[in-house]
Amino acid sequence: MRACAKIILFGEHVVVYGRPAIAVPIKELFTEVNLEDSDSTNFETNLQLDVSEEQKLNLLISFIKIRLCIKNNFRVIISSNIPVKSGFGSSASLSVALIRTFSEKLNLNLPIEQINTLAFEAEKIFHGTPSGIDNTVISYERTIFFRDKVAELIPMHKALNLIIANSGPRPSTKEVVAELREMYSNNKEKYEQIYDKIEKITSQAKQALTNGELTLLGKLMNENHKALQMLELSSEKLDVMCSDVIKAGAFGAKLSGSGRGGNMIALVGNSTINAVTDALSKYSDSISRVAIQ
Ligand code: MEV
Repeated sequence: MRACAKIILFGEHVVVYGRPAIAVPIKELFTEVNLEDSDSTNFETNLQLDVSEEQKLNLLISFIKIRLCIKNNFRVIISSNIPVKSGFGSSASLSVALIRTFSEKLNLNLPIEQINTLAFEAEKIFHGTPSGIDNTVISYERTIFFRDKVAELIPMHKALNLIIANSGPRPSTKEVVAELREMYSNNKEKYEQIYDKIEKITSQAKQALTNGELTLLGKLMNENHKALQMLELSSEKLDVMCSDVIKAGAFGAKLSGSGRGGNMIALVGNSTINAVTDALSKYSDSISRVAIQ
């Protein structure tokens, strides 16, 4: 069974504080899991894992087996084309794919809500204090407006053409979320004001998505990026990538995910896809074009 990747359009980080965020599924990127009967439970994968990541994966598999009361042993075969540590939700995708595959193999028929709840528990164990947006958008595979663990599906008026480019390595999400928490605790008033601003942008973006207002959506992405800069979550490279794609004709651009590296996204029209891709090619060798329906 498979699970897709995701990208956050608006509201990353502030969603951890109960503010809303919008995320979309990326179906071109996915994790696939297959199970073979075995004497002991073990895994094989095309993912490049260091020793501690291998340990975490073993733990994740054991955790899911225990929570689903699975006694049988399996060889768990995992393949993925999702870049890790970029903002694509690779860990939530892995959890959802594992849970779906165990559910199918053992005829558990787990409903989406249960898959999502279990994937959220797994995210909490391995990633500190996640908001739950990654596991939710990946479990439902729909564009969502997410707040306080509740997802509202957004009816999309027009397809969105996004170009996603990786700016390079970034710290782990857990680290960046913890650092922002520290800065927030030292100056709550200042940070709440910025969070308010992002909340307003995200609510306007929900409306713009529903109405298919791409120019407005692009402007809101630029505003969200500025607010993320104020939270010290951008990087020089992300900033220059965003300003260059706007010069090349994108409706708007912003960093996406936990920031300080990793992905940026640009919203483009059909006529500017090539110019924007060209503008990014000198900064990134990992550029994807996706259409979100
Ligand atoms: C990570 O994809 C998004 C963050 O907002 C963290 C979270 O929501 O758990 C940075």
